[in-house]
Amino acid sequence: MAMLRAATRLSRAFRTNSIFESHASPLSLSSVTVKRLDLRCLLSTAAEAVAEPIKPDISISLTKLLIDGKFVDAASVGKTFPTIDPRTEEIIAHVAEGDVEDVNRAVKAARRAFDKGPWPKMTPYERSKILLRFADLIDKHSDELATLESLDSGKTYQQSRYAEIPTMARLFRYYAGWADKIHGLTVPADGPHSVQILHEPIGVAGQIIPWNFPLLMFSWKVGPALACGNTIVLKTAEQTPLSALLAGKLLYEAGLPEGVLNIISGYGHTAGAAISSHMDIDKLAFTGSTEVGKIVSQAAAASNLKPVTLELGGKSPFIIAEDANIDHAVEVAHFALFFNQGQCCCAGSRTFVHESIYDEFLEKAKARALKRVVGDPFQNGVEQGPQVSDEQFDKVLGYIKIGQEEGARLLTGGDRFGQKGYYIKPTIFADVQDGMRISREEIFGPVQAITKYKTLSEVIQRANDTTYGLAAGVFSKNIDTVNTLSRALRVGTVWVNCYDVFDAAIPFGGYKMSGHGREKGIYSLNNYLQVKAVVTSIKDPAWL
Ligand code: NAI
Ligand code: MG
Repeated sequence: MAMLRAATRLSRAFRTNSIFESHASPLSLSSVTVKRLDLRCLLSTAAEAVAEPIKPDISISLTKLLIDGKFVDAASVGKTFPTIDPRTEEIIAHVAEGDVEDVNRAVKAARRAFDKGPWPKMTPYERSKILLRFADLIDKHSDELATLESLDSGKTYQQSRYAEIPTMARLFRYYAGWADKIHGLTVPADGPHSVQILHEPIGVAGQIIPWNFPLLMFSWKVGPALACGNTIVLKTAEQTPLSALLAGKLLYEAGLPEGVLNIISGYGHTAGAAISSHMDIDKLAFTGSTEVGKIVSQAAAASNLKPVTLELGGKSPFIIAEDANIDHAVEVAHFALFFNQGQCCCAGSRTFVHESIYDEFLEKAKARALKRVVGDPFQNGVEQGPQVSDEQFDKVLGYIKIGQEEGARLLTGGDRFGQKGYYIKPTIFADVQDGMRISREEIFGPVQAITKYKTLSEVIQRANDTTYGLAAGVFSKNIDTVNTLSRALRVGTVWVNCYDVFDAAIPFGGYKMSGHGREKGIYSLNNYLQVKAVVTSIKDPAWL
């Protein structure tokens, strides 16, 4: 019976809250997919922390660096680092550790593939077909990709397999569609001149990605860069190096010419720093902490002034007006914060509830958190796995302690879950004050902070009183409230009566210290294109 309830909850969460793709999309979590999810849940038994961890059916074969189309050892031969299973705190595999010399080799390969190689010279249609073949291979290998993704990061297998991997394939199909539709302009100018505005690929892109959505971050960066005809040196996060290596292998299987995509596993202060300061990299894209976003921007400026796009942290407000459907708002606010173990840049981490519904909301939010199924992410029906690493586990528990010391009211949770693995109980603080650190700093874990408000102008001022500006949620049936809030909030995305809708076509990015530039959609193409004006003098023009 408990499992039946868990299954219903999960399918309802996927159906009603959104998830990555809009429901109009042919690849969205359609009712067919949801039925499969339900079935998988129903077959399972109750979830528990990892006493006897489930052994996923996979052998780890790709652990080397991917340079110039080949899997190779690190330049300092034998140099590796361990990647950890967050369920057990045990080593999954030792992975080749890339450093400065490996980045140099990768840049050389990417440079050659751009300057002399076939990629930018290929017709856009040919590039498009390779991206489409890759999307088909993602579908074909989705079990394997999802297993690696969950093993390395701790996210649930169901989320990887049924939400993230299909979204990845969808995104590559979206950018495959753009590849042969990128074109410049001809513009009129004063005088006898023909003016062409060319949109050229920018060159070698350096891309540094985090661990919370390893394959989706891979896709957001690699998809548009390849569609525009660029070559790439990508560094994965040291916590989650495995899945991108398989994705890279599949891209070459799809027909990518040698050297077009190079993948370096390794640490930030070594391999990451080498990328951001490299003189032969033409563009840098980074997703991660605001702190490191500033460091890589400085390195980019101090080296060759390469342009930088940044997708950084957030402290996103989730505002629930007095007229909102409370049950729906409770469910979506829960999803907005706890999804992916709370490890989302856009997590709805400041829940503002109108005072007239505050007490009822607290009671229901607590009941929902208590029902959240925490356990082995490979167990069907589990909603929440472990945090990604010991560092994140300690950081989140540290913030829970800070919240208690600051005087916020702990409604539920507040502790680790089980004895082994980086599991944390779903935690809620009520009566959170704006000045508290748990209201100002990114916790990046399963900790919901709820506060009450009285008026619309008050909540606008408080919601915007942050250094971040990534996203916001608005829950209301009143069109005036919705319109006022969605224009007043200084954030890159406003989700109204939904949350975390991540369609390939919708741009994503932040205001203020949440970064600059936009990923996904048509906007991401601009990050990977140069604009060149070619002005030709015309003799005897028939018209101007
Ligand atoms: P981080 O910003 O250190 O790591 C993100 C990426 O940057 C990784 O690939 C890392 O190796 C690389 N990196 C680190 N230092 C670098 C350097 N000096 N030069 C170049 N690259 C470097 O994030 P971390 O330490 O994993 O997490 C810390 C906090 O950052 C989290 O608790 C969370 O608050 C936030 N974060 C935000 C993310 C987002 O989606 N915006 C993703 C991951 C973390
Ligand atoms: Mg760091």
